[in-house]
Amino acid sequence: MRKLKLDELNRASVAEFKAGEKFPVAVVLDNVRSMHNIGSIFRTADGFAVEQIYLCGITAQPPHREIEKTALGATQSVSWTYYENPLHAVQKLRTEGYSIIAIEQAAGSIALHEFEPQTGEKYAIIFGNEVNGVSDEVMQIIDTCIEIPQFGTKHSFNIVVSAGIVLWDFFAKLNL
Ligand SMILES: C[S@@+](CC[C@H](N)C(=O)[O-])C[C@H]1O[C@@H](n2cnc3c(N)ncnc32)[C@H](O)[C@@H]1O
Repeated sequence: MRKLKLDELNRASVAEFKAGEKFPVAVVLDNVRSMHNIGSIFRTADGFAVEQIYLCGITAQPPHREIEKTALGATQSVSWTYYENPLHAVQKLRTEGYSIIAIEQAAGSIALHEFEPQTGEKYAIIFGNEVNGVSDEVMQIIDTCIEIPQFGTKHSFNIVVSAGIVLWDFFAKLNL
């Protein structure tokens, strides 16, 4: 097989992306520490045409050289906003009609493959800090918690890997 050249990928320009239809998902980053993780989340959100990223708490904001190393320009295409308190971001999303879903390992969580996203719904999916996970206060006000099953020795996935898995799963269930 021949690998495609960049100009054969037919990607949208930043302006076309911004004007284009979005996947009805907002990504909330609850106190994410690593700028490389933040940049990778931007790149992943661009790939799935995510509506908006909510950067909360200690989560760093663009522009920043370390974020750009992994975002590769996706901070220009994906809309974002900053909230000091993740609870306020989540409360705002709830008033706008989003279903509030923590992506976390928790008692009472539903396994990703058992969750069926519904066409016409909007979802806010929350990812947590690399050490402490989603804030305890946020866990108190979510509608649902989705957990990605794991079969190895490590406690958890990297946050960006988790975002890629969940966004693809939602995308495949809703769009394909
Ligand atoms: C490195 S993990 C945090 C692990 C931390 N030890 C904890 O207790 O939550 C960072 C984030 O990735 C996501 N994550 C990682 N593995 C996951 C899994 N198996 N299921 C759901 N979310 C996961 C969650 O959003 C989590 O807050």
